[in-house]
Amino acid sequence: MTDSTKPAATLTLAGSNKSLSLPMLDASIGPTVLDIRKLYDTLGVFTYDPGFGATASCESKITYIDGDAGVLLYRGYPIEQLAEHSDFLEICYLLLNGDLPNATQRDEFNRGVMRHTMLHEQIRRFWDGFRRDAHPMAVMCGVVGAMAAFYHDSVDITNEEHRRIAAFRLIAKVPTIAAWAYKYSIGQPFIYPRNDLGYAENFLYMMQAVPCEDYKLSPVLAKAMDRLFILHADHEQNASTSTVRLAGSTGANPFACIAAGIAALWGPAHGGANEAVLKMLAEIGNKKNIPEFIRKVKDKNSSVRLMGFGHRVYKNYDPRAKIMQKTCHEVLNELGIKNEPLLDLAVELERIALEDEYFVQRRLYPNVDFYSGIILKAMGIPTPMFTVLFAVARTVGWVSQWKEMIEDPSQRLGRPRQIYTGPTQRDYVPVGKRA
Ligand code: SDX
Repeated sequence: MTDSTKPAATLTLAGSNKSLSLPMLDASIGPTVLDIRKLYDTLGVFTYDPGFGATASCESKITYIDGDAGVLLYRGYPIEQLAEHSDFLEICYLLLNGDLPNATQRDEFNRGVMRHTMLHEQIRRFWDGFRRDAHPMAVMCGVVGAMAAFYHDSVDITNEEHRRIAAFRLIAKVPTIAAWAYKYSIGQPFIYPRNDLGYAENFLYMMQAVPCEDYKLSPVLAKAMDRLFILHADHEQNASTSTVRLAGSTGANPFACIAAGIAALWGPAHGGANEAVLKMLAEIGNKKNIPEFIRKVKDKNSSVRLMGFGHRVYKNYDPRAKIMQKTCHEVLNELGIKNEPLLDLAVELERIALEDEYFVQRRLYPNVDFYSGIILKAMGIPTPMFTVLFAVARTVGWVSQWKEMIEDPSQRLGRPRQIYTGPTQRDYVPVGKRA
């Protein structure tokens, strides 16, 4: 990020002779930014941007989104090429280290991650305290946060080796925690990880194997799961990543920061949308109910939203949704599912929505969550686990962004300001004198 040669903007307050020259900071691609760090000290005013729609909270070199063009790059590589040619562990290396690994780096990294897949045996006992019908995201928040109670040799954020080991432990152990959350919910024994399997294969193995028979995994399904992880790995400063950065800016340990990210991802406006899409499709039931559903969505008095549609940044097709739709057909074919009513419904819903002025005018398109749930349901993953899988994949993005923040010399404690519109100062009134 360099000071731009472009003329800076000058801000002059109406009715005052005060003005401030705002430097423009150059991006390698995408919008330049106005550096307003001196604004309050010089002009005594704040900016106001609820939801941070026009506010850059940090400098990052990891992921870039062009919302108008529907472009997503991980360290400069287009998501379409990575989804086609790469695998999730290679993406983990890329996001964490900034470039694709050579063969030696790749093998060493993969060994490093896949040797951290087991959990401390005492962590298993956490599950005894959960109800069987606990939402698995609640289990994820609790167990990931509690990793700080076990792995004391990777909580010192000022120690590079601690940060490196914490990154490996989080990327490697979150799939185990996720799979055990599922097994616990169905009363089946926990399946220990197998380090000879690939990352996605091992996750499906821990989710679906049972001790009493051999487990056969389809390479097509393993590839589909690996691709889902790639598509969900990182996405600039989304709500959960911003939560991780804010928690990290206080100096909190990495496990606490990632647990905070998991909590933020849970919301239906964010990572919980994939679960909400399946519920929405089930409620619509069949194509003849679509017009009435769309009417409700357009009715300002109803809170009904077309889940899996719309995005704060994408005002074009989410490139991940296109890849997800293609993967959906591959998975259904592999499983011999000739017609999946939910997919037919989703495709018809998308067709109608993309022609409807309400959605066109607001530039609402399918996002990453619109098709992912259909794939996961076809693979036998229960709906409450959908956001858990999102968290498994996004852990590397959160850790990469957290690492970048910690290593950024300009980073400081995050502490937004506000516009106060509450009562002006007043004196306390004893209860006997109140109205
Ligand atoms: C993810 O940030 C990320 O990168 C997130 C993510 C990632 O990888 O980390 O991409 C993952 O969270 C994807 C988004 C998943 N969420 C959903 O699918 C939930 C449904 N979508 C919406 O709730 C909504 O689109 C948001 C929350 C995603 C974005 O909303 P914004 O940017 O705050 O936009 P808005 O709410 O101000 O909406 C603008 C207009 C409004 O209408 P008007 O008041 O102008 O008349 O569009 C309407 C909204 O009512 N609108 C929708 C809609 N989304 C927006 N109307 C119907 N259905 C929708 N889904």
